[in-house]
Amino acid sequence: MRLQGKVALITGGSTGIGKAIAVRFAQEGAKVAIAGREEALLQEAVQEISAFSEHIFYIAGDVQYKQDVQRMIDAVIARWGTIEVLVNNAGICSPAPFLEMEEADWDRHMAINLKGTFLASQAAAREMVRLKVKGSIINMSSVNGLAAEGDQAHYNATKGGINLLTMSMAVELGALGIRANALCPGFIETRLTKPLIDNPAAIGPYLKTIPMGRVGVPEEIADSALFLASDDSRYMTGHCMVVDGGQLIKLS
Ligand SMILES: NC(=O)c1ccc[n+]([C@@H]2O[C@H](COP(=O)([O-])OP(=O)(O)OC[C@H]3O[C@@H](n4cnc5c(N)ncnc54)[C@H](O)[C@@H]3O)[C@@H](O)[C@H]2O)c1
Repeated sequence: MRLQGKVALITGGSTGIGKAIAVRFAQEGAKVAIAGREEALLQEAVQEISAFSEHIFYIAGDVQYKQDVQRMIDAVIARWGTIEVLVNNAGICSPAPFLEMEEADWDRHMAINLKGTFLASQAAAREMVRLKVKGSIINMSSVNGLAAEGDQAHYNATKGGINLLTMSMAVELGALGIRANALCPGFIETRLTKPLIDNPAAIGPYLKTIPMGRVGVPEEIADSALFLASDDSRYMTGHCMVVDGGQLIKLS
């Protein structure tokens, strides 16, 4: 049990990568709160995890709004008296060519992916400092934060921003005992990527860009999040950890 008794909040924790992290953390003994916008899916995820853990609940809320984020953190503190791990996983991605990208679409990506990560990190870190908690904050970035993919200028920019935000947090919070790291997954099979996976004409050539020759699964990102949440990574902060089957290092 690598997270026995630890209190964790995972945003976007009802689906895909976030849900896999919630399951993995709960399996390792953590008390887990999941937050998100889709209440029916949050209920389903809580029900699934309740089958093996009694320490699970959800908070409905939208990470782009400061009052919602504060409510998430307050709910965790009210229930368990502390917060030790925050996973900023909530995110959106709706591709659009750069020349046609709408301002509203740009703003939406910035508000949810980047500002949401800032708001939740600040609110959680303030509580960690107040409670003298040696916390771990994990920001869900992407390989798109380290290299640019076409039709994703807004998404790429938010993930690049998350990487620098992570480093900035690590610089300022390190002396306070709080670590901040980013996870940069490659192509992971979730509802976000399902349209491409289900299109044989598109997925065939795409797989050739990945040295390991396959897409990843959410559980493989959850294992990396577990490492960053646990004491196994106790001397790591400000790191952007790439988990991508080798996609980013391949030139041809
Ligand atoms: N799937 C991939 O290939 C991949 C690769 C790299 C990074 N990521 C990142 O992983 C994270 C999870 O993505 P996923 O693939 O599991 O897709 P997903 O759509 O299943 O997960 C996103 C989650 O965020 C929640 N969410 C969205 N907007 C929100 C908001 N405003 N407030 C609160 N919750 C909100 C959704 O309800 C959902 O639960 C995202 O940050 C994504 O950018 C995914």
